[in-house]
Amino acid sequence: MDLKQCVILGFFCVVILVSISLSEHFELSSSPSANGTVGQNVILPCQISLGRQPQNMEVQWQKIGDGNVIIYQFKAPSGPETFGQGYKSRIVLAKEGLPTGNVSLQLKNVQVTDEGIYRCIVKSTGWSDNTLTVLHVAGMGMVSIGILGPEGEGIKLTCRSSGWFPHPELQWLIKDNQSHPFELKQDHDQSFSVFSSITVLRGTTEVTCLVHVRSHLQMKQKSTMFLSQKRKYSMKRCFEEEEKFIQASQKETLESENLDLHRRLERARTEFGDAV
Ligand SMILES: *[C@@H]1O[C@H](CO)[C@@H](O)[C@H](O)[C@H]1NC(C)=O
Ligand SMILES: *[C@@H]1O[C@H](CO)[C@@H](O)[C@H](O)[C@H]1NC(C)=O
Ligand SMILES: *[C@@H]1O[C@H](CO)[C@@H](O)[C@H](O)[C@H]1NC(C)=O
Repeated sequence: MDLKQCVILGFFCVVILVSISLSEHFELSSSPSANGTVGQNVILPCQISLGRQPQNMEVQWQKIGDGNVIIYQFKAPSGPETFGQGYKSRIVLAKEGLPTGNVSLQLKNVQVTDEGIYRCIVKSTGWSDNTLTVLHVAGMGMVSIGILGPEGEGIKLTCRSSGWFPHPELQWLIKDNQSHPFELKQDHDQSFSVFSSITVLRGTTEVTCLVHVRSHLQMKQKSTMFLSQKRKYSMKRCFEEEEKFIQASQKETLESENLDLHRRLERARTEFGDAV
C-alpha cells in the first residue's frame, strides 16, 4: 500500500466514524397496553427517549396482523403525512408534541375491529427503533325495557341493548332472580346485541333488566321499569299505545289517498289542459 492509498483509506475511516457518531441513538417507550371504549377516542402512546425529535425523523404506525398494515406515516418536519385506508378521518398525530419527542397517536371513534397490536416505528439518519402496544376495546350500550302488551294474566315486557364488547349476559331482576333465556347476536361491526322478553304477573311493581360482562365486573348497565299496581291501568296504557298506532296508520293512509287524488288531478290537467 503506498502513501496515497493509505491516506484515502484513512479518510474513509474518518468519514465513517464521523457519520456513526452523528447518527443519534434513541429508544422508544410506550405503554404495553391501552384500553379503548367503542365510539370514543384513545391514545396509543409512543415517546422518543431523546426528549426531542431526531434529525430527518420519519414516524410510522403499523397495525400488526395478516401483513402489517401501515396506518399512518409522517416525514418530519412538514410531511408528507399519509394514512392507511379508512383511517384518514380517525387518526391524529399532534405536531405540537414533536419538539419533545412525543409521537403518540390519537385514534378517534374506536371500533371493536380496532382491537389488536400496534407498532410505533421512528427512523432517523442511521438509526431506528420500534415498540408495541396492545389495544383492548370494550363497549357498552344503553339498556331499554319496552312494553309489548297484555298476555294472559300479566303483561309482556322486552329488554334490549346493543353495542357490547366482549359479549354480555342479560338478567331480569324480579323477586326470585330466576334466570330467563336471552338471545345474543353479533352485529356487522362485531359488537354484540342482547334481547329478552318476559311476562310479569299482576301485582309486579318494579322490573329491572341488567346487562353485564361476566369477566369485567365494572361493565354493567341496567334499566328499571315501574309498573302501576292496577293491572287495568297497564292494560289501558297498552290500548292507548295501540290506539295511537292505529291513528297514525290511518293518518298515513289518508295522506297517501290525498296524494293519489292530487296525482289524478295532475293527470287530468295535462290531459285536458287548463279546462279543468
Ligand atoms: C386496561 O384495563 C385493565 C382491566 O380491564 C386494567 O387492568 C389495565 O391496567 C388497563 N390498562 C391501562 C393502560 O389503563
Ligand atoms: C403526548 O401526546 C398525546 C396525544 O397528543 C397526549 O395525550 C399526551 O399527554 C402527550 N404526552 C406527554 C407526556 O406530553
Ligand atoms: C338478585 O340479583 C341481584 C344482582 O345480581 C342481587 O343484588 C340481589 O340480591 C338478588 N336478589 C335475590 C333475592 O336473590
